[in-house]
Amino acid sequence: MPDITTTYLGLKLQSPVIVGSSGLTDKPEKIARLEKHGAGAVVLKSIFEEEILMEYEHMFSEEAPGRYKDDYLDYFDYRIKEVNLDNYLSLISQSRKLVKIPVIASINCSTAHEWTYFAKKIQDAGADALELNIFILPSVLAQSAENIERTYLNIIQSVRNEIKIPLAVKMGYYFSNLAGMISELSRCNINGLVLFNRTYSPDIDIEKMEISSAGVFSSPKDLSVSLRWIAIMANRVKCDLAASTGVHDGKAVVKQLLAGANAVQVVSALYENGPEFLETIIKELKEWMISKKYEKIDQFRGLLSQEKQVNPALFERVQFMKYFSDRDMQKDHKV
Ligand SMILES: Cc1cc2nc3c(=O)[nH]c(=O)nc-3n(C[C@H](O)[C@H](O)[C@H](O)COP(=O)(O)O)c2cc1C
Repeated sequence: MPDITTTYLGLKLQSPVIVGSSGLTDKPEKIARLEKHGAGAVVLKSIFEEEILMEYEHMFSEEAPGRYKDDYLDYFDYRIKEVNLDNYLSLISQSRKLVKIPVIASINCSTAHEWTYFAKKIQDAGADALELNIFILPSVLAQSAENIERTYLNIIQSVRNEIKIPLAVKMGYYFSNLAGMISELSRCNINGLVLFNRTYSPDIDIEKMEISSAGVFSSPKDLSVSLRWIAIMANRVKCDLAASTGVHDGKAVVKQLLAGANAVQVVSALYENGPEFLETIIKELKEWMISKKYEKIDQFRGLLSQEKQVNPALFERVQFMKYFSDRDMQKDHKV
């Protein structure tokens, strides 16, 4: 049997398949099931910076103690019993006790405000690592690209100052120079980047004439965005890369590893097929390794990254040239 163990964020994983942050990872019992079916690690359901700030602001508006950070933290201990934050810390500590696989906590954030103190609480509760889901939709006309990028760097620096455990950043792809930004973030003393987050997206219901949701789950066709950027950035960053979005089977895991990912996150496929589907994904990965005579993941990781390709331009092709589109359409659709 091939060895599918790997390392991500300096943590040893029994498989490269990580269950991404979602409702699949919001209870210790669910996490134990995911471990049983072969998850390499789990990223817990995120806590939102707003939830942390709400507690924090509440604290200030009432009988807040002195203005020193340690006082805040002691006061946190006192005030947060039986509310959201306490529940989140319990989720970390209980999961940590129940399973052997790494438990990665997660915070959704878009500012570097006072909430960053809470990262230390997460570390103290026993999280093996922390993933920051940073998302700023670049929709404000007056906001410069530089300003948005600076916010990312400030958040990372504030959180890095609080914790020693490995830190990963989950990002989107709305940047004016995506490769430059990925590279810059990787040099911020973080341990991993997750490419990419998938956001809630709008649609329009033309019968009801109202805004609707474009669908919560990804499809296998969504794989190509992260595949391109994992392949382009592999070995050009100063941290690990985890692929996320559109991984719906073992073949997609193989593709992301060939592109150069250190680990692969899965969510929608497990919502659609149940946690036991992890076993199917892992079986497919192992069968492919056997068919290609690979014993370890490192023997093929990154073999098809842009850096290793004879024709690196293949990952940078963006326009459909007439020749390719006609030929592909004839093959697929008999037009
Ligand atoms: C129901 C649901 C809840 C999610 N909740 C979170 C969350 O709390 N934090 C987060 O960073 N990502 C969250 N995500 C995004 C996933 O972690 C993942 O990035 C996204 O679904 C793309 O992966 P997939 O194609 O495997 O689904 C959620 C996704 C779904 C479908």
